[in-house]
Amino acid sequence: MTVLSEALPVDKLGFGIYYGPKMLSAKYAEGKWGPLELKNTGEISIHPGAKTLHYAQEIFEGLKAYLQKDGSLAMFRPEANIARMTRSAEMLSMPPFPEAKFLEGLKSIIEASKDFATEAPGALYLRPTMICTTPSLGVAPGTEYLFYILLCPVGGYFGSAHVEKPVEVSVLATDEYVRAVRGGIGSAKTGGNYAASLRAIQHAKKHGFNNVLFLDAINQKSLEELGGMNLFIVQNGELQTPTLTDSILAGVTRDSILKLANSMGIKAVERTITIDELLEGIENSKVEEVFACGTAAVVSAITELGWKEKRFKVGNGESGPITQTLFQELTNIHYGKKKAPFPEWMLKV
Ligand code: COI
Repeated sequence: MTVLSEALPVDKLGFGIYYGPKMLSAKYAEGKWGPLELKNTGEISIHPGAKTLHYAQEIFEGLKAYLQKDGSLAMFRPEANIARMTRSAEMLSMPPFPEAKFLEGLKSIIEASKDFATEAPGALYLRPTMICTTPSLGVAPGTEYLFYILLCPVGGYFGSAHVEKPVEVSVLATDEYVRAVRGGIGSAKTGGNYAASLRAIQHAKKHGFNNVLFLDAINQKSLEELGGMNLFIVQNGELQTPTLTDSILAGVTRDSILKLANSMGIKAVERTITIDELLEGIENSKVEEVFACGTAAVVSAITELGWKEKRFKVGNGESGPITQTLFQELTNIHYGKKKAPFPEWMLKV
């Protein structure tokens, strides 16, 4: 674990490699949460039989704080991440961490780490995590939990990030691997969903793609999400994203883009989109743009899509105008260069 003792330039940061010197943690036992304490970032000790290690009773979140023009730091929609972690806790039979204390904790770790913030495209990435520490091997929810928040100064998720335009990536759609199934935990932010995506991402990388696009597990027709990001397409000038199901993570960036687009007069809809429709649309130029979004990836243009043995160039092979506009609008809001259409989105620390 590389714990920083001083800030690094943003182009050296990458994603999730370097940690700030402070973390927060709290324990749950005998039916209640103890205090959330600020500590030096370092190793934790858990029993090798802890349920989190065997049955993946684990949840996490990802949100960012951005350096503002006046030198202060502001978080983007922390309440949305906190609320989602509460929903994930319910899905994984874990005790939710009290939301007001959670928000206070986020503010305090950012305040303690402000010297590590870098200008755009950098950010302080916060990783709230909850694990079950009960050392018992019966398949049942545990009774002891650890909640902690890590902080990583980050740059781009896909290598180098830019201020002026989205990163361009290639994605392989797959009907060979599935991420989540109906009635499962695909809409929870839990490690198991990411474990399920690893083999598919590796396969995509082996074939020269940056990431993978999963389809629904039953008919293997409807677009779902990438490994850790949601998906948007621009079809006939209209912004479209797959309707949420219980096998898609309800991304905070996805929701923000839908709201932002509407506020900017860009028509945006949630609908079922099939892989056949997407490929046909790319081929006959009805689908002009495709992009991925997430807290880590922000807005990343998908300029090439793979399916079976074929590769399809999206639009002219560069990030398109709507992708570009939404990227710029969102990042301007993040760094306080523009007021959010919903003032509560940016929360000053
Ligand atoms: C995020 O965007 O914050 C995530 O948690 C996705 C992860 C794959 C980095």
